[in-house]
Amino acid sequence: MAIRKVGVVGCGLMGHGIVQVAAQGGMQVVAVESDKAALERGLGRIDKSLAKLAEKQVEKGKSTPEQAKAFVEKTRGLIKGTLDKKDLADCDLVIEAIVEDLAVKKALFKELGGLCKPSTILASNTSSFPIGEMAAASGRPERMVGLHFFNPVQLMRLVEVVRTDRTDDDVFAQARAFGEACGKSPVSCKDTPGFVVNRLLVPYMTQSLLMLERGDASAEDIDTAMQLGCGHPMGPITLTDYVGLDTTLAILKGWVERYPDEPAFEIPKILERKVKEGKLGRKSGEGFFKWDGDKKA
Ligand code: 3HC
Repeated sequence: MAIRKVGVVGCGLMGHGIVQVAAQGGMQVVAVESDKAALERGLGRIDKSLAKLAEKQVEKGKSTPEQAKAFVEKTRGLIKGTLDKKDLADCDLVIEAIVEDLAVKKALFKELGGLCKPSTILASNTSSFPIGEMAAASGRPERMVGLHFFNPVQLMRLVEVVRTDRTDDDVFAQARAFGEACGKSPVSCKDTPGFVVNRLLVPYMTQSLLMLERGDASAEDIDTAMQLGCGHPMGPITLTDYVGLDTTLAILKGWVERYPDEPAFEIPKILERKVKEGKLGRKSGEGFFKWDGDKKA
């Protein structure tokens, strides 16, 4: 069975990108949000991103203005926004991209397990929670995988495809094929904390914040060091702003609670303090740096 119709629950930072790349891959997409304003914001982001991609295609001489316009219209035409989860019932694949809260995610998967057709594959874009727990809540653990995309979804070429002990081989193969159809390179991962990328990346970001907290170096110098010394596209402090301080904290809190003996999982006080102050990074206009829209102020 090929995946033709995809549902995405949550149209925020990650969700809107997943909706977009699935539509760019030629699939019909149902984007679900909990309120009208959030849905409009998500669809607005997709419009902006598609316009940017189209502009670049023309600039680089890869498309004529007419072809670029047709690409935007075709992609946008495949996306339907809704506030009603029942619209997911006939999707071949439903991907969850909601708040990083395990109880909320489990409740959603229980609901999806009840309302989607029996063949629907369920997937979570979680950064850090066990797929197995959500799979059990769904009531169809053999049809559940993790599909972990990276921010910004439109530009990052990786998707981690996570299988549990109970994931069906065919479901796993279909999930990988879906990732490829979205233009991504899939890597297979077991259901372990942080899978591959975040298990390495989040402790690295944590170390950079602890360094900042100790006053070993400034935020600017830590970032410059990793950009120029290691060729990273952005330094770890900017990357924390980019991922979201609240998201980073939620990942770490979950891990510290679940794996108290793992020394790599530690919560920097500076991170907790910033989140308390509402400084969440790029999305709130300030984190460790100040932001003006997508760019540093
Ligand atoms: N849609 C379309 N175009 C976009 C876009 C989007 N969403 N976002 C950026 N672009 C465009 C920009 O407008 C820009 O276009 P231009 O060249 O015409 O001006 C172009 O892409 C390049 O972007 P920038 O000028 O902002 O700068 P960069 O060249 O630095 O590229 C970046 C940005 C791709 C984000 C790069 O800095 C990068 O790779 N950073 C690292 C990101 C990363 O590590 N992500 C993973 C985070 S971890 C994660 O997601 C897991 C989670 O679970 C925690």
